[in-house]
Amino acid sequence: MLSEGWEITLNKLTTPIFKQPEVSANAYQTIREFIYNEAGIDLGSGKQTLVSSRLNKRLRHHQLDSFDQYLELLLNKNSIEYQVAIDLLTTNETYFFREAEHFNLLKNLLLQHHPMNKNFRLWSAASSSGQEAYSIAMVLDDFFGSRGYWEIFGSDISTRMIKKAKSGLYQCHRIDAIPKDFLRKYCLKGTGEFDGYLLVDKKLREKTRFAEINLTKPLPEVGEFDVIFLRNILIYFDNKTKKNIIRSITSKLRSKGLLFIGHSESLKGMDLPIELIAPTVYQKK
Ligand SMILES: C[S@@+](CC[C@H](N)C(=O)[O-])C[C@H]1O[C@@H](n2cnc3c(N)ncnc32)[C@H](O)[C@@H]1O
Repeated sequence: MLSEGWEITLNKLTTPIFKQPEVSANAYQTIREFIYNEAGIDLGSGKQTLVSSRLNKRLRHHQLDSFDQYLELLLNKNSIEYQVAIDLLTTNETYFFREAEHFNLLKNLLLQHHPMNKNFRLWSAASSSGQEAYSIAMVLDDFFGSRGYWEIFGSDISTRMIKKAKSGLYQCHRIDAIPKDFLRKYCLKGTGEFDGYLLVDKKLREKTRFAEINLTKPLPEVGEFDVIFLRNILIYFDNKTKKNIIRSITSKLRSKGLLFIGHSESLKGMDLPIELIAPTVYQKK
């Protein structure tokens, strides 16, 4: 039989330390409108659990009891919560050599069409933490060697992801798709406090620049590109936003430049100044 003391201990342990507030229908609607207006992301209906799991830590951080209180903070124009919420509500999944066929295709297209005396510029326009941009950097360095000039520009709406991308430092998980010779040639293996990490080689980091860009807003001056990767982001947008973004970024493509989108994404039926030349690869008309 448990003594009184034990019961008190059991009561203490079974009482949740922090009761997760629920996202009311009104609060959900406001957050849905916020992320749609600010980032173009269409959450759809019924994603209260997702929103709650992503933002709850912010309620804890500010010691708030409800999402209504959190919204007061978020919707205050000068609040730092604005960027934090965008960072938390975006899905940043990425890994090296994701959808590997695109990297082979890029190399083949370069072999067929690119004159070595011309600067080659590529934009990873939703780069997340940078693995896509650095995968491309490995392909370009391997292809060009010392024969030509190339540069990569990576951008994302998330401050947190851009900071990580600039560091070029990654945990060694989901790195299986990096070709073994590239791993040896372009990745430094961490030791001591960096055990379990890899650092992208300085030579590639110096040619890969990152900046924060929201693709739903007017684009800053970024110059023109031969190739733009815009992969695994269009799925979060409705057709109107998708079309506006594609129009805006293709204005930054050089004549006959190429746009790569994700394997599960489509631009079917949209009136755009590009034509399909291979599955998920478009060329500027
Ligand atoms: C799933 S990741 C894709 C990363 C990489 N392109 C890939 O295929 O692995 C989508 C990225 O799009 C970014 N994103 C979402 N809305 C954006 C917007 N309006 N402007 C710029 N980036 C945005 C997110 O922050 C996220 O890092």
